[in-house]
Amino acid sequence: MKNIAVLVSGGGTNLQALIDAEKSGIIKDGKITCVISSKEGAYALERAKNNGIKGITLPRSEYSDVAAYTAAIVDTLKAENADIVVYAGFMTILDEQIVKAFPYKMVNVHPALIPSFCGKGFYGLHVHEEVLKRGVKLTGATVHFVTEVCDGGPIILQKGVEVKKGDTPEILQRRVMEEAEWKILPEAVSLLCQDRITVRDDVAYID
Ligand code: GAR
Repeated sequence: MKNIAVLVSGGGTNLQALIDAEKSGIIKDGKITCVISSKEGAYALERAKNNGIKGITLPRSEYSDVAAYTAAIVDTLKAENADIVVYAGFMTILDEQIVKAFPYKMVNVHPALIPSFCGKGFYGLHVHEEVLKRGVKLTGATVHFVTEVCDGGPIILQKGVEVKKGDTPEILQRRVMEEAEWKILPEAVSLLCQDRITVRDDVAYID
């Protein structure tokens, strides 16, 4: 059984999807053992508390730079005996220390079909604003390994979502979450917990 640590910054609907998936048995061989928030008072912490999961707040604002903040996160993950780390709406960029500490043990959910609409500056609602501005007809979500390259790690799962006439960024964000993120994130976490993903030449393969 793997210990899953979830990194959050906000509302935590993806965390909720993981909690629900663990309860319903969709996540096999893994248990969410702690939630770490980069923001004080994030609603995700409330969700952890309501489900008896340990919540830890490490505010980004209390650290002088990325290196010091990453070191604090890595120390906390090690103290909590984390095997797997999930970025679930975690809005803070960390440096390579964490990638070295948890190589191919960390996944991120991104609200678009990578390699479109990703990288620095593409997060949260901004992604959906850009999708609508560009007029693409199909968007979606991606779960990928976290590496040194922002949104550049091997892709594990993706799901497409239709863009509809009259969509606002908020409406589209909700549809992408409901139809894609909340499904593929727990699925990918389960695959990782079962050691069913291998990476060769930067490509992830599922057994
Ligand atoms: C989600 O849409 C997630 O994909 C996105 O932020 C939202 C968090 O919602 N993450 C990123 O943009 C990371 N680059 P949540 O707190 O309700 O899970």
